[in-house]
Amino acid sequence: MRCLVFILVILLPVWLAQPLAAQSPETPCLECHGPEGLAKNPQAPILAGQREHYLKLQLQAFRNGNAAGRANFSARRHPVMAERAHNYTDEEIVQLARAFSRQVCRSAREFDPRIPRDVPRPQIAQTCFTCHGVDGRSRRSTMPNLAGQRPAYLARQLFAFRDAKPADKTAPIYRHHRMMSRKGNHLSPEQIKQLALYFGHKTCW
Ligand code: HEC
Ligand code: HEC
Repeated sequence: MRCLVFILVILLPVWLAQPLAAQSPETPCLECHGPEGLAKNPQAPILAGQREHYLKLQLQAFRNGNAAGRANFSARRHPVMAERAHNYTDEEIVQLARAFSRQVCRSAREFDPRIPRDVPRPQIAQTCFTCHGVDGRSRRSTMPNLAGQRPAYLARQLFAFRDAKPADKTAPIYRHHRMMSRKGNHLSPEQIKQLALYFGHKTCW
């Protein structure tokens, strides 16, 4: 018993003094995805509060470098994330997805004053609600939240889906998903810009 008390007295203050991030498996990710969920790297998306299963699928896709599911159904490649994800086991990927999905969601506009507070809803946005939820707050675990995500990131993904060629097995930056690529096929650059700003300016709660 005295031994236990000794351990508690000596070790507890040391443990408490560690910054939270230093103890968690997601530490290597925070450099870009940010300790509070907002990525300092403007290319990197907000992960805090994102759907768990969706995050898992993305990490598996980055790790596998190609199909996340059935061949030619979906694939995602990005050199930065490929390098980060290639060592993770399935179990570690599940843990990472769970950790980020449980973080309190943060909206880009909380941090970025350049994102306007009031953006009219483009009519076409309604066609996204079946899968992404009303105003981009998803109710399904495989479908990502769009609300509050950085507009520039959303726009980049929409262009990637739109311009992906499923036969392309080599492009280092690539994203194809049969549902989304079909959806994105007909979007003009102006529509992509409007949709990205609309969903990005919403709050995620
Ligand atoms: C050096 C910067 C960097 C680091 C470190 C990093 N990421 Fe990323 N991450 C990115 C970038 C950039 C993207 C966007 C890729 C794209 O455009 O397809 C991204 C995308 C993602 C996505 C896709 C999210 C979405 O909404 O589709 C997930 C999931 C992810 N990262 C998880 C992680 C995890 C988990 C770690 C730690 C193991 C990590 N990242 C470390 C830069 C980074
Ligand atoms: C039929 C269902 C469906 C519809 C409708 C749909 N999406 Fe998606 N969307 C998905 C799925 C599934 C994914 C995840 C793809 C993957 O795993 O790579 C996705 C991913 C995305 C992403 C990437 C998010 C991220 O964090 O990387 C964006 C942006 C997006 N959709 C925007 C839209 C917009 C805008 C519309 C309306 C014009 C729309 N989607 C309509 C199913 C849909």
